[in-house]
Amino acid sequence: MTHSNGTLRGAGQALFEIADVHVTVEGREILRGVDLTVRPGEVHALMGRNGSGKSTLANALMGHPKYVISRGSVHLDGEDILGLRPDDRAKRGLFLAFQNPIAIPGVGTGNFLRAAVKALRGTETINALEFRKELTERMQRLQMDPSFATRALNEGFSGGEKKRAEMLQLAMLKPRLAILDEPDSGLDIDAVRIVSDGINTVHEQQPDMGILLITHYQRILNYVQPDRVHVMAKGRIVESGGAELVHQLESEGYDPILRRLGIEDVEEATSNGR
Ligand SMILES: Nc1ncnc2c1ncn2[C@@H]1O[C@H](COP(=O)(O)OP(=O)(O)O)[C@@H](O)[C@H]1O
Ligand SMILES: [Mg+2]
Repeated sequence: MTHSNGTLRGAGQALFEIADVHVTVEGREILRGVDLTVRPGEVHALMGRNGSGKSTLANALMGHPKYVISRGSVHLDGEDILGLRPDDRAKRGLFLAFQNPIAIPGVGTGNFLRAAVKALRGTETINALEFRKELTERMQRLQMDPSFATRALNEGFSGGEKKRAEMLQLAMLKPRLAILDEPDSGLDIDAVRIVSDGINTVHEQQPDMGILLITHYQRILNYVQPDRVHVMAKGRIVESGGAELVHQLESEGYDPILRRLGIEDVEEATSNGR
């Protein structure tokens, strides 16, 4: 069977395989058959206008109860994960960096991360000294002030600080497959560079990690090089290609591609932030 991204099922070992995924939110079908295969080490960019369904895919894959997968299959390392709870998906190595992370009042960022690492590893104890050391190094690399370790996660963080905190989680949790939902949204160019450096650093240290990088703009893809690029419209991947597709979108925007495919797609006025 050929997937829409032009890969053959069964050829090479797939790290993450999404097939014919349909998602319903509050009784309304948002995703209408998504196919996507990520092999170990690959970076896939998922692009598309606001409202095309990108965050819906991310949330559904992570197991958000509001996003019902009504059809299709999702395999991580060959295992069907759709029957698993979100925390069990995380234990298998699935990670989602949220487009709009929520604050966790009363829980310091460092303690949150320590608890998350323990939960994922299934251990009661971790080496506190090593953990601190790594946390400090990772935060320095992301140009985060040390005070963030003790501040409540995302509480009063600016947009850029939240995105860096998501990248800090990525670095500390070391997933097999990272879904990054618009890690660049609302960031100025310096912050995009810092976030990109964060992604690239983790990827260099863990070359087998797969990345699904969701973005509305091509800008971040100048820093994080995608192996494959997909365009989503109206709940489907309508076009897939290599990095050249990014440049085409950069110069032409989404209109010509969608028109050529005969897709009438009206952009939602603002990002709904999901
Ligand atoms: N929790 C939700 N409740 C109701 N509608 C939703 C929800 N999440 C997404 N949608 C709808 O699904 C469509 C796709 O949204 P979304 O996945 O956020 O797109 P994107 O991330 O590409 O901007 C939109 O019409 C949006 O209103
Ligand atoms: Mg979104």
